Order: sequence, then structure tokens, then C-alpha cells
Amino acid sequence: MQEKKGLFKSSVSRKNMMAISGLFISFFLVIHLLGNLILIIPDSFFPIEFWGNVANAHDMYNAYSHFLVHFWPVSIIAWILYAAIIIHIVDAIIITNQNRKSKGDNYVVADKASSTWYARNMGILGTILAGFIVIHMAQFWLKYKVLEVEEDLYDLVVETFKVGWFVILYVISIVAMGFHLIHGIKSAHTSLGLHQKRVVKFVEIFALWFSVILTLLYAIIPIIIYFKEI
Ligand code: HEM
Repeated sequence: MQEKKGLFKSSVSRKNMMAISGLFISFFLVIHLLGNLILIIPDSFFPIEFWGNVANAHDMYNAYSHFLVHFWPVSIIAWILYAAIIIHIVDAIIITNQNRKSKGDNYVVADKASSTWYARNMGILGTILAGFIVIHMAQFWLKYKVLEVEEDLYDLVVETFKVGWFVILYVISIVAMGFHLIHGIKSAHTSLGLHQKRVVKFVEIFALWFSVILTLLYAIIPIIIYFKEI
């Protein structure tokens, strides 16, 4: 009994860690989106030169990226983000294995009637996202931030999104992210103890809108760059 209690306790705190890391990643996604939307600001939105030499999206995006890399408080937040991503993935694997062991083969069947397809496939959506993050970070973060082999991040992103296959890969991954977020945000609040009916309803609606807006705005970035003459 004692052992069972310990197991339950650790699985509860794991769920809390997953919830907190997931909410932190969601917060990062909003900031990351705002920064990357600079990529698709039309040049006509820069009627005058401001910030010294910044006169178009190209300059503004590179100024923003330079700030991200050279402003130390941002670097600390970035390290917290990497830790959050790792904690989220490791806890997801452990919790999934524990659920499988404790519920056996009936697990998925029992859930089918009362849940959405994406809630039942959080593991698959999460795996697609993990694969995407590895490719994504190898493409941009590694080349620009770590190896420093690319100085013009705007050019690197635009070159990448001129390749049709990458645009398709990004759009599919971003849609997977959207479904993962709808259920993830809702279940994070439940894990953190919000069970009142009204609050749950509010969180459900918020999670849906948040995820839809984030997905659409992220997805239009590679699509616009692909079709825009740059
Ligand atoms: C069209 C969409 C996106 C574009 C153009 C984009 C662009 C970039 C670029 C240029 C970097 C390297 C520079 C930097 O660290 O900020 C980066 C880093 C990163 N991106 Fe994205 N990204 C997009 C979508 C996403 C999505 C959907 C996710 C997560 C699911 C994501 C997760 C990350 C992470 C974790 C990093 C490393 C952050 C850091 O070191 O501070 N990105 N992204």
C-alpha cells in the first residue's frame, strides 16, 4: 500500500511538472510567434527608417534575432525552455508507460466513448512535434545560435521556406501542434487542480481559440514566404 501511495504521488507530481512545463512552452510559442511574424510584414509598412538602419522586414528580423542572442536575460529564459521541453517529453514517456501498465489493453477502448481523437493520440502528436523540433532546431538554432555558420537569419529562414517539402513539413507539424495544444492546455489546468465546471468550460473555450489562432498564424508564415517574391 505504502509503495502504491508513493507511485501515485510521484505520478501526480509528474503530471504537475508536465502541466507547468507545457504551459511554459505555450507561453514561449506566443513570444516566438510574435517574433517570427516580422518575417511577413510587407515592406510598405516601413515608410520611414526607424531603429537606425531598420527599413524593412529583413533588417527588423535580423535586429530582433541579434537581440535574442546577445541579451543575457533572454539566454537564461532559453535554457529554462530547453529544460521544460526535455522534462515535458521525459514525463510524457514515463506517464504513458505507467498508464499502459496499470490499465492494460482496455485503456484506449475505455476512453474512446468520452474523448476526442486528438486527446487519445497525444503521444503520437507529441512524437511528431518532438521530431519537428529536432529538425527545426537543426535548421535554424544550430546554424545561427550554436555553430554561428549563418549570420543572416532572415535569409536562412526564407531559403528554407522556398523549398516546398519544408513548407509541407512545417504546416503538418504546426497543425499537429494545434491539436496537441487544445487538449494539452485543458488537461494542464485539470492536473493543476482546476475542476470547477465553469472554470473547466472557460479553459476549454480558451484552449480551442488559443490553439486555432496560434496554428493559423504559424502556418501562414512558411506559406506566405513560399509564394512571396523575395
Ligand atoms: C513558421 C514558423 C516558425 C519559424 C519561422 C521559426 C523560426 C525559428 C528560428 C529562426 C529559430 C532560431 C533563432 C531563435 O532561437 O529564435 C527558432 C528557434 C526555435 N524554435 Fe522556431 N520557428 C517556427 C515555429 C516553431 C514552432 C511551431 C515551434 C515549436 C513547436 C518552434 C520551436 C522553436 C524552439 C524550441 C527554438 C529554440 C529557441 C531558442 O533557442 O531560444 N518553432 N525558430
